[in-house]
Amino acid sequence: MRVLFATAELSPVATVGGLAAAAAGLGAELRRSGVDLDLVMPDYGDIALVDETTVELDVPDWVGAAVARQGRHPAVGPLTLIGVPGMARPHPYLQPDGAGWPDNAERFFRFARAVAAYCERTQPDVLHLNDWHTGAALAALDDPPPSVVSIHNLAYQGVADGAWLDRIGLNASHYEWWGDTNPLSGALALADRIVAVSPNYSGEIQTAANGFGLDGPLRNRADALVGILNGIDTDVWNPATDPHIAANYDAATLDAKQASRDALVERFGWSAEGGDAPIATVVTRLTEQKGIDLLVPLIPLLDQIPMRLAILGSGDAVLASRLAELAARFPDVFAFVDGYDETLSHLLFAGGDLFLVPSRFEPCGLTQMQAMRYGTIPVVTAVGGLVDTVPDADASPTGVGFVAAEVSSEHLLAALFRAARRVTNKRRRTALQKRMMSIDHSWTAPAAEYAALYDELVAERG
Ligand code: ADP
Ligand code: GLC
Repeated sequence: MRVLFATAELSPVATVGGLAAAAAGLGAELRRSGVDLDLVMPDYGDIALVDETTVELDVPDWVGAAVARQGRHPAVGPLTLIGVPGMARPHPYLQPDGAGWPDNAERFFRFARAVAAYCERTQPDVLHLNDWHTGAALAALDDPPPSVVSIHNLAYQGVADGAWLDRIGLNASHYEWWGDTNPLSGALALADRIVAVSPNYSGEIQTAANGFGLDGPLRNRADALVGILNGIDTDVWNPATDPHIAANYDAATLDAKQASRDALVERFGWSAEGGDAPIATVVTRLTEQKGIDLLVPLIPLLDQIPMRLAILGSGDAVLASRLAELAARFPDVFAFVDGYDETLSHLLFAGGDLFLVPSRFEPCGLTQMQAMRYGTIPVVTAVGGLVDTVPDADASPTGVGFVAAEVSSEHLLAALFRAARRVTNKRRRTALQKRMMSIDHSWTAPAAEYAALYDELVAERG
């Protein structure tokens, strides 16, 4: 089975959010299971490959020169980088001041068109696209192979000027969107299968409240739409071997988790006196989606729960400065680290008693699964993949976390109170930690589902 898998992000080559981790984790596991996977991503520049060969792709003039570099990447293995004019930039989507590159639409239309050319050249058994960046590839294919498009986040659609419809290819009419061009909507119409990154999200996106305008088209394709829950890299996220935490541990040696907790207390200069107050941690992008602003009114109340909170986050500058102000006002109970720091994130996953994910929507979410690997109890909202991965421990004997009934500060506070009660009862806390640590969140099962989907598609074509 030869699969062309196209993505705008791939860990560790180009990482912005969970798409990078998902593409890398799924890709590696598919390869282990015997799928011949051609991983294709944009050539953002400064990416070294060994044993490299280069081919020029046959694309229309508006794309400019398109070149595929094929070789091996030390961390990824075989990798194909597609370069088009304007693609090589220090960040895939953002300028140094945090605003998007003004020509993002153009850059990714070019890239997607080059992916189509590369697909025509390599004739894979299946074409697997991810999110809007790659969606327009199907616009240009006259006789496409069986195709899958994964939706990692419907909030981002890459909508651009309607004039693009004249360029992107013979199937362009499917991409027409209220006079504009929507690279995702066309892919949703044309792909043989649509995969949402969690079962619950596959239902949510068919509703007006969560469909970001595409719920109608998605309902029309309900028969082609499935939900496959993401996995996490269980080698990277493993408290038994993690080099970034204070002491290694597993479900049988949970007492050693305390060393990472102590390291957090020391790092944030918290007093040992408040030692019993549970520590909640957060690792996140700072965007509307993640609901971190909902925690702001709770920070002055932390003292009374009692609880301490540490947030590592990057993104929205206004929210970041608000959080920094609060950290200065309530230093004994609240810490904020502004940035994207993978090493520190490991210590936060290990050292917290609780891990908070207050998202307004969450297609899958990886951090709650990473937290559970470390026996850190998730406190989440009831949205998207959080519902699939975190049943409530007060509502079900197989529960693993605490779920806010509604997306609001009040309901998050109520869930935090329930979680704090559980944490302070060592016997009940340990039982919960052991349960969550025994769950298999690896890519093994999801990759098998994707592989079965590929087989099904090829069989359907005969
Ligand atoms: P999203 O892709 O919507 O941001 P996910 O939960 O799917 O959310 O994935 C986010 C990934 O990025 C996780 O692996 C998380 O650990 C990591 N991450 C997010 N923000 C940070 C940060 N500020 N520092 C370090 N890692 C982060
Ligand atoms: C997106 C979503 C996140 C998901 C990730 C990987 O970034 O926001 O929920 O886990 O993609 O699929």
